[in-house]
Amino acid sequence: LRIAVLVSGSGSNLQVLINAMQAGALPIEIVGVISNREDAYALTRAKDANIPVAVLSHVASGKRMGIKTFETHANEQLIAWQPDLIVLAGFMRVLSGSFIDNAPASMINLHPSLLPVYKGLDTHKRVIQAGERRHGCSIHKVTAELDAGQVLTQAVLNVDINDTAESLQSRVQKLEHQLLPWTILLLAKNILSLEANNTSSQTETY
Ligand code: GRF
Repeated sequence: LRIAVLVSGSGSNLQVLINAMQAGALPIEIVGVISNREDAYALTRAKDANIPVAVLSHVASGKRMGIKTFETHANEQLIAWQPDLIVLAGFMRVLSGSFIDNAPASMINLHPSLLPVYKGLDTHKRVIQAGERRHGCSIHKVTAELDAGQVLTQAVLNVDINDTAESLQSRVQKLEHQLLPWTILLLAKNILSLEANNTSSQTETY
């Protein structure tokens, strides 16, 4: 499976995929990494693994690059890399419907909550404030509506009485590092499909 990864930050999930690829534990080739931030540590991880990178910063040369320009460049780059799957791993920009529809492969996103609850930012803090007993992470198909595409897989943990937003973040991140490669393996083996339409019930896709 040829995979392109979109990142904005640390890239710990990208690192898990690089390690799995290098160890031969996942049948993937990471064909390129796109970052919308030039200071993303994920870029260092990609370069260290000799993976091609493209930095499409929205503050390129001091001028703010609009989302259209970012998307035009990202689309061209993705078409050049010919991925079978595009993975959003800590990518912090909202993408337009036309970008998603015109992308050369389906996209999946990793989100730190048990979707459909807690879409958007600051999920750990909001989970603590609401007194939730369960939390976790989801991988879903990317559609134009934020964090709303079909859920493919989830991992769940119990929220402890002593948990803080920070402790939850670190525990959820450990789950993410298991869930992402596992989900990609299921996709590579055709056990999970991205072709199923969005209206089918979630339980059918587990
Ligand atoms: C993850 O927690 C993911 O759920 C969120 O951004 C974080 C990315 O972490 N969307 P990293 O860049 O992979 O370390």
